[in-house]
Amino acid sequence: MQYDQPLRGSLDHIETASIDELRELQLNRMQWSIAHAYNNVPAYRNLCKEKDVHPFDLKTLDDLAKFPFTTKSYLRDTYPFDSFATPMNEVVRIHASSGTTGKPTVVGYTQNDINTWADIVARSIRAAGGHYGDKVHISYGYGLFTGGMGAHYGAERLGCTVIPMSGGQTEKQVQLMRDFDPDIIMVTPSYMLNIIDEMDRQGLDPRDTALRLGIFGAEPWTDEMRKNIENRLGIDAVDIYGLSEVMGPGVAMECIETKDGPTIWEDHFYPEIIDPNTGAVLPDGEYGELVFTSLTKEALPIIRYRTRDLTRLLPGTARPMRRIDKITGRSDDMMIIRGVNVFPTQIEEQILKIAALAPHYEIVVGKQGNLDTVLVKVELAPEAASANQDQAAKELSHHIKSVVGISTKIEILPMGGIPRSEGKAKRVFDNRPKG
Ligand code: DLL
Repeated sequence: MQYDQPLRGSLDHIETASIDELRELQLNRMQWSIAHAYNNVPAYRNLCKEKDVHPFDLKTLDDLAKFPFTTKSYLRDTYPFDSFATPMNEVVRIHASSGTTGKPTVVGYTQNDINTWADIVARSIRAAGGHYGDKVHISYGYGLFTGGMGAHYGAERLGCTVIPMSGGQTEKQVQLMRDFDPDIIMVTPSYMLNIIDEMDRQGLDPRDTALRLGIFGAEPWTDEMRKNIENRLGIDAVDIYGLSEVMGPGVAMECIETKDGPTIWEDHFYPEIIDPNTGAVLPDGEYGELVFTSLTKEALPIIRYRTRDLTRLLPGTARPMRRIDKITGRSDDMMIIRGVNVFPTQIEEQILKIAALAPHYEIVVGKQGNLDTVLVKVELAPEAASANQDQAAKELSHHIKSVVGISTKIEILPMGGIPRSEGKAKRVFDNRPKG
C-alpha cells in the first residue's frame, strides 16, 4: 500500500526539529529527571551515593554514563511504591508487569504522566498511519498490563473511535471486527495470528475485513512474520515497542513511510546501548542491551534502566530521532545450545520460509547425557497436504542447522496442535536441570 503524507503538517514540533534542538531539550530534561529522582527517591539517592555521583555531575549528555544503572531488582527492592518520586495522593494510576517469578514490577503515573503517555501513543498511532476518525480495535489486554489502557488513551487522544475489546474471546473478536469495521487493530502479533485462524475456521476471508493497519508489539516478531500477516490480512503491519518500567506501549514506534524499525520518542526517553557484560556504553550501530532514561516522568522517574532487550541504535530516517533495530530478543530468552547463542526469532525466521508450515511454534530444550537437545514443534499450514510433512521437517532442520548453527529435532503437528496465545506468546520451554 502506498502511504501519502497528508498529515505531515500536523506532526509535533519535535518530530521535525534539528538534532541540536533535540539534544538541548534532552539535556535540560535529563538534568531535571535525575535531580527529581535523587531528591525524592531515597533508594535512588543511595545508588548514586554508592557510586559517588550527584545530579550536578550531569553537565553533558555523555555524563549520563557516570550514573548507576537501575534494574528489575531495583524495582523489586522498592516494591511496591518506594520507587515513586511523588506523594501517593498524586499517583492516579498503577500498572504492573507480571514477571515469571516473585513479585510483580509496579509502576505509577501522575495525571501529567497519563497525559504525556496519551500524547505519545497518539503520536505513535499517527506515525503508524492512523488518524482522526479511524476506528481502532484494541485487543491488547486491559488491566495491570499497560498494553490495553496505554493504546486506548492514545487512540482517544488522536480522535479515534476506540473498541476496547481486550484479549481473549477470539470468536467475539472476529464477530466485532465484521460488524464494526475497524480501520486499525492493536494486538500482539501472536494473537493476531490466532484471530486470523479463527476467521479461517469460520470460513471468512481475512482479506475482506475493513482493516487497513495493524500496530503490533509487546513481543519480538520478525520481518518474515510482518510479511505473513500483511499478506494474509491485506494490511500494513508496523511495530510498536515499549515496556511498563519506562511507560508502556509507545516508547518507540515504527513510521509507516519507512517501516524500518521503531523510532524512539527521544524527547521523552533517552536511549543507550551497553555491553551487557561490562556495562560500557557502545557507539550507535553496535548491538548490545538497550538502556532507557525517562526525561519527563513524574511518579516513576527511571534512570539508566536496563531493559534486557538486545538491539542496536540506528540513525533517524522518517524522523530526526534514532531508531531501534528489530529486537532480537531479551537476554532472558536467549538459549545457549551447546555453546551457541540462539533466540526464538531466529527459529521463527526459518519456519516462515517454508510454505508448508504455519507460524505457530514452540521450542523445547532438554538434555541427553551432557548434550543439549532442541525440539522444534511446529504446525503444518492448513493448506499444506500432510504428505509434505517429512519434507517440511527435513527442510526446516536443514535451514536451522545451516543458518543458526544448531541441530534440532522437528515435530510437525496438525492445525491447533500448538496452544494459542491471547497476549504474549510463550515460545521456549527449557527443561534442562538448573544450576
Ligand atoms: O509489553 C508494553 C507494550 C504493550 C508494548 C503493547 C507494545 C505494545 P511489558 O509487559 O512490560 O510491556 O513488556 C516489555 O516486552 O522489554 C520487550 O522485551 C518486549 N517488547 C515490547 N514491545 C516489543 C516489540 C509491554 N515491539 C517487554 N518487539 C520489552 C519486541 C517487545 N519486543
